[in-house]
Amino acid sequence: MKKITLGLVGFGTVGSGVVKFLQDRRSFIRDRFGIDFFLKSICDRSIDKKINKTIEKCSLTTQWEELVKDPMIDVIVELIGGVNPAKEIVVNALRKKKHVVTANKELIASLGQKLFEEAHQNGRNIYYESSVMAGVPIIRTLTEGIVGNRVKGLYGIINGTCNYILTEMTDKGYSFEHALADAKNYGYAESDPTLDINGMDATYKLAILVNLAMGKFISVKDIHTEGIAHIAHDDIEHAESLGLNIKLLAIAKQHGQEIEARVHPTLIPKDHPLAIIDGVDNAIFVETDPLGDIFLAGQGAGKMSAASGVISDLLNIAVNEGSDARSNLANLAHDTADLRMRMIDDIMTKFYIRIMAIDKPGVLSQITGILGQHEIGINSFTQKAHNRASTVPVIMLTEPAPEKKVRLALEQLHKLPVVKSKPVAIRMENP
Ligand code: HSE
Repeated sequence: MKKITLGLVGFGTVGSGVVKFLQDRRSFIRDRFGIDFFLKSICDRSIDKKINKTIEKCSLTTQWEELVKDPMIDVIVELIGGVNPAKEIVVNALRKKKHVVTANKELIASLGQKLFEEAHQNGRNIYYESSVMAGVPIIRTLTEGIVGNRVKGLYGIINGTCNYILTEMTDKGYSFEHALADAKNYGYAESDPTLDINGMDATYKLAILVNLAMGKFISVKDIHTEGIAHIAHDDIEHAESLGLNIKLLAIAKQHGQEIEARVHPTLIPKDHPLAIIDGVDNAIFVETDPLGDIFLAGQGAGKMSAASGVISDLLNIAVNEGSDARSNLANLAHDTADLRMRMIDDIMTKFYIRIMAIDKPGVLSQITGILGQHEIGINSFTQKAHNRASTVPVIMLTEPAPEKKVRLALEQLHKLPVVKSKPVAIRMENP
């Protein structure tokens, strides 16, 4: 029996899930792999309040340095999130010749390249399956399963909290606030849920995916990011009537030597496999060559899902002992320096546009006139109600148009005296 000694930093939702998973599956892991994971120490800020003291032979501390210094510990499992002090913990653990497992997308997205180099220099490795889509194995799919294929594009629902909120708003008519409160209760949301809602959580994850799929380390600053807070119930309903669903999508495409990467609410046809991914589930649609399209889906947030990814990393470390960071394809992705980022202004997409305009003759021609001036073609045009005393929603679907032109047109539309609130624009994709 091979014994691997673990130190766990962070005993929140995921940390407690890892402990449960290790306890529940201990005999299976021993019988099947001949590996015994021994959890020697747990570090958490509020150790006394949270930890059930019955965890067998496990010492508890609030000082992560104690775990990193402990010569008996082989692997540090970092589950606190955020860059600081996670970076210090990971770097120090590697320097003390420990492997690292982390679910920290912000850390890997921002500092992955440096950390992999540090791991290589110390003959150790970093595994991070749970950083994207939790236990749904997208990291291993990209780095092992489909490695060797060219990834032309990927479209992912990679934030469980936003997908849960949009689903609850769509199916149950819940308010945004009600759905968010539920997502927090279920342990899907980040400790700071604004990172989910404003799209940043998905952006960190997309940066990691682009690195693995397209071989380019990109900064999160290069990813155009919009969250879901401005999505109104009306837009969900209008979209439905047009045969479309709204999802927060993380999108990356490669066009020759250019890559585009963006996160924003997106309208997709209701019959697309991504459109039926509901609740906390995540999914990703990857266009590859020569394999073709692949689709991966499952629970992408929550205690046991994230724990599953961590356990898979731990087993990989145990089985691949002795392989350093550079022998791991995930960490080998050298930056393909000649790939450039295509900035959002130059990206072409179709748009759904909703304008709240006064219901009187001549208004529609003013609206279409402005779109025409900016060479934005209109695919369909619907006025949703008639009420001469008030404003009515005017819904348009455009032809593909460059982002910059659409933005200028929207600014001009907003200034029209007959337009009574900021126009809403949601991009459309048909992966
Ligand atoms: N807050 C994240 C989500 C957790 O909702 O997807 C998993 O990374």
